Amino acid sequence: MILIDLTGKKALVTASSKGIGKGIAEVLSIAGADVIIVSRDPNNLSKAADDIYKKSGKKVFYIPADLTVREDLEKIVNEAHKLVGDIDIFIFNTGGPKPGYFEDINLEDWVYAFRLLIYPAVYLTKAFIEGMKRRGWGRIIYSTSIAVKEPILGLTLSNSLRISMAGLVRTLAKEYGRYGITVNAIMPGYIKTERVMEIAREKARTEGISIEEFLDSMINRIPTHRMGIPEEIGYLTAFLASEHASYINGAIIPIDGGLLNSSL
Ligand SMILES: NC(=O)c1ccc[n+]([C@@H]2O[C@H](COP(=O)([O-])OP(=O)(O)OC[C@H]3O[C@@H](n4cnc5c(N)ncnc54)[C@H](OP(=O)(O)O)[C@@H]3O)[C@@H](O)[C@H]2O)c1
Repeated sequence: MILIDLTGKKALVTASSKGIGKGIAEVLSIAGADVIIVSRDPNNLSKAADDIYKKSGKKVFYIPADLTVREDLEKIVNEAHKLVGDIDIFIFNTGGPKPGYFEDINLEDWVYAFRLLIYPAVYLTKAFIEGMKRRGWGRIIYSTSIAVKEPILGLTLSNSLRISMAGLVRTLAKEYGRYGITVNAIMPGYIKTERVMEIAREKARTEGISIEEFLDSMINRIPTHRMGIPEEIGYLTAFLASEHASYINGAIIPIDGGLLNSSL
């Protein structure tokens, strides 16, 4: 028996040619969904679609688009409709905002981070949620960060802007629950992706230690003593997208190996 069966569901996952987004797209495809992936570089997308096909045996569609560009958001909505029809499962993931302390971040960085982290989530939710409402079924899942719950030193933009996604989740969950739509968010901790390894290399360099030393100090703080992998984010997301999770609505779920400190 397949526990999570998303056969017949149409899913769109943003920022998904690599890392967390790709892990999510892969698991949804393995679970039987028709999946569209989105990112800026068509070469990365084509490679990711091939990689996923090798694991799931299902064709993966892709749309090259920059989430910070308004015309590209329109293109995502139009092309998605042409490729698969109405979207049942919308997973919002995005590129990482510029890291830095408050004094490192200029005013333009704040505006750009809003265009990267928040505006495309709202635009695409508006575009897909009405169809979900008409059909009486839908799943919206925002991938954010544990920074929603506990600020991470040196990630000013992430700490300040992502928390508004929590407000959006709770609001939409209350407004749309009656239409068979659930809206949830997940908060990944440290997940082994290219971006995390790049940040680790840079931090190791500025601290004058080796990358191995830096990674050791990072994983020593994680109770499970390792970083997560993108597929693990995919398993949680596929569950939330499934019928089994119909009563989970408005939740903001950490997936961090136990890293967060707060009790609630
Ligand atoms: N990895 C972690 O430990 C971790 C933990 C918590 C939160 N996060 C957050 O999760 C998100 C993904 O992180 P990741 O580690 O998976 O990063 P990653 O490995 O660098 O992957 C980022 C993906 O986003 C795409 N992308 C970047 N900017 C985009 C844009 N403007 N428009 C469309 N697609 C875009 C990239 O493809 P193209 O370059 O082709 O566009 C790529 O497919 C980030 O927001 C990150 O801050 C990560």
